[in-house]
Amino acid sequence: MAKGSIVAGLLAPHPPHLVYAENPEQNEPTSEGGWEQLRWGYERLRESLSEVDYDCLVILSPHWQTYVGTHFLGVENFKSLSVDPVFPNLFRFHYDMKIDVELAQAIHDEAQGQGMSVKMMENPDFRVDYGTITSCHMVRPQWDKPIVAISSNRGNAYYSVEVMQEMMLELGRVTRKAIEDSGKRCVLIASNSLSHRHFTTESAVPEDMSVEHITSHAMHLWDMRIIELLRAGKSQQVVNEMPEFVEQAIAEADGGALTWMLSAIGMPEQEAILHGYGTIIGTGNAIMEWPCHAWSDA
Ligand SMILES: [Fe+2]
Repeated sequence: MAKGSIVAGLLAPHPPHLVYAENPEQNEPTSEGGWEQLRWGYERLRESLSEVDYDCLVILSPHWQTYVGTHFLGVENFKSLSVDPVFPNLFRFHYDMKIDVELAQAIHDEAQGQGMSVKMMENPDFRVDYGTITSCHMVRPQWDKPIVAISSNRGNAYYSVEVMQEMMLELGRVTRKAIEDSGKRCVLIASNSLSHRHFTTESAVPEDMSVEHITSHAMHLWDMRIIELLRAGKSQQVVNEMPEFVEQAIAEADGGALTWMLSAIGMPEQEAILHGYGTIIGTGNAIMEWPCHAWSDA
C-alpha cells in the first residue's frame, strides 16, 4: 500500500453567517448575501483545491467541546438538522454527512497508543456541531468526500492554553502518522476564527455590511501579525505566541485546531497562501492554505 499523505492544511473559519449568505438549499433562512470578501476567499480556496486529488477531509472544530479527552465521530452517516444556538435566525442546516470511520478509528488508536485520552463517539443520534458543518460546507459544498471529525478537548479550560497546545502538538503528530499508515490522501481543516471579540447585538438586517468591521484596533493588529507570520512561514513562532494571542485577542485558536493542523503538516517553514480576510460580527477571519502536495512533489 502506498504511503498516505496530507495534501493540504487549511485555516477555514466557520461563522454560520457564511453559509447563510451563500443561500444553499440545505439552509432554511435566506439572505441577500453579505461577507463577500470572505466568500470570495473561499471561492479561491476551492479553486486552488480543485486540481488536488484527495480521499477525505479531517477537521477539528472548537464547537464540539469534550471535557474528558479528544473524541472522534464514529458512525458512518449522520443526518439531521443543525441549529446554531446563538444565531438560529441564520443557521438551520439539514446535513447529510459521510464519516470515514476507519481513518477516525486509526487516529484514535494511534493517539491511545501514545497515552492520550480519546474516545469514539458512536451515538447515531449525535448532533454534529455547526463549526464542523460550516467549514466543511464552505470548503467542499458538494458534500461528496467522507469526513473525519475531531473534538476540541478544552484542555485550556481545565489546565491552561500551554497544556492544550502541547496536547494538540501531539494530536497533530499522531494524526499524521495514522494518515501515512492508512494510505489515504487527506485535507486537514483547522476550523477557527483569529481574533474573536464579537459584537453583542445584531443589526436589523444581519447581512447589512455598512455595520461590519473589526471590533477594535488591537484585534486588527493581532490578526495582521498572525497572518503575516504564517505568510512568512513562521508557524513555530505563531505556536510560541499562542498563549498571548489567545489571551489578548480572545482568539478562537484556543480550541487547538490551528496548532493541531500546523503540527500535523510538520510545523511548516513554507509560506502559507492567504485566500481572504474579513470580519464577521467583529471577529477576524482568515482563509489560508498550506499546499503540502506541492512541497512533497517538488
Ligand atoms: Fe466559532
